Amino acid sequence: MKILNIGLFGFGCVGQGLYYVLNHSTGFKANIKKIGVKNRDKKRIVSAEMLTYDKYEILNDPEIDVVVELIDDATEAFDIVKTAIRNGKHVVTANKKMLALHLKELFDLQEKHQVSLLYEASACGSIPIIRTLEEYFDNENLVKVSGIFNGTTNYILTKTIEEKLSYPLALKQAQDAGFAESDPTNDVEGFDAKFKTAILALHAFGIIIEPKEIINIGISELSEFDINFAAEKSYKIKLLPVIEKIAEHQITAYVIPHFISKKNNLYKVENEFNGVIVEGEFSGEQFFQGRGAGSHPTGSAVLSDISALSYQYRYSFKKHEQNGSNLFTRKVNLKIYLRIQTKEDLAQINFIEILSEYYSEDYSYVLAMINLEELFLVQNYLKEKSLFCAVVGE
Ligand code: HSE
Repeated sequence: MKILNIGLFGFGCVGQGLYYVLNHSTGFKANIKKIGVKNRDKKRIVSAEMLTYDKYEILNDPEIDVVVELIDDATEAFDIVKTAIRNGKHVVTANKKMLALHLKELFDLQEKHQVSLLYEASACGSIPIIRTLEEYFDNENLVKVSGIFNGTTNYILTKTIEEKLSYPLALKQAQDAGFAESDPTNDVEGFDAKFKTAILALHAFGIIIEPKEIINIGISELSEFDINFAAEKSYKIKLLPVIEKIAEHQITAYVIPHFISKKNNLYKVENEFNGVIVEGEFSGEQFFQGRGAGSHPTGSAVLSDISALSYQYRYSFKKHEQNGSNLFTRKVNLKIYLRIQTKEDLAQINFIEILSEYYSEDYSYVLAMINLEELFLVQNYLKEKSLFCAVVGE
């Protein structure tokens, strides 16, 4: 079998993870020919001859079969990936933001140039969810995909709630461990989970949803009151993305904190671990768990994609072919917990029904039914007012 020649972009947490797993994999061999990096002053664990500061040294090298893109900057990553595909190279990337923002264009581009664009590491770290949806569930009528898609927020929730660490310390630990995004707002406000949601929606339901259409409510407004409310009812608080078929050809998606009970498989998913629940009409519920972030687990997912290229694997996007008429909708009703400051906060929000309410000087909340479309419209208002919202789930 021909040994693949790799041009690697980025040598940070995931790049070094890939370098490690590639050097320690006993079953698979591939050659990293060049590594494109930005910073000339950083000390590296590889020889200077392996490095380049000129992206075209990789992109225009006819001996390089595969471009592995693992940089932080989504705009630059998009440029690299587009050029690589146009130059006939296969691409492996972990850049969820870049993928989610340009899914349609990238889908068309890899079709046009008949090359592979693989990105298992972009969603849920080492859990092989994209290939599972693509291959194993290719003919299953999927109903719902939900889970914990962000390791940093799950780590923060575990450390602050279960282990009583302060929020800044928990975040710092997540950053030091290499779990967090360079701007952790992307993690804690749910943007990262939303990008992964958009990617999985394509492979589970064949639908391309623009990330701006998906509501993302994060965990930054979570307070001691909310934690106590959840604990009294034996709920855990988890940031959950949900992608769900709610009627024929109607797919909804959202990223909102949830109160979940012990019955939910995600209840026990802690720290940087991710979990995915796939529900199919025939198969019922399947639960996957694994490390959602970190150098070696993410490097392992990249390695698996490179290995798949050695047998010419490409995503066939079967769900996209089968479900061309699926449409995105926010017409779904949710039961939410909303912590407010005063009763006046409610005047701006159209609920379907307020189920119960509690007011005191320092803590007030409502439990209410609301349409997702309405929640989408008021999401900035909730943020401005520092109100915490969670779906009351199972
Ligand atoms: N910041 C991301 C997370 C990295 O915490 O899940 C993995 O995508």
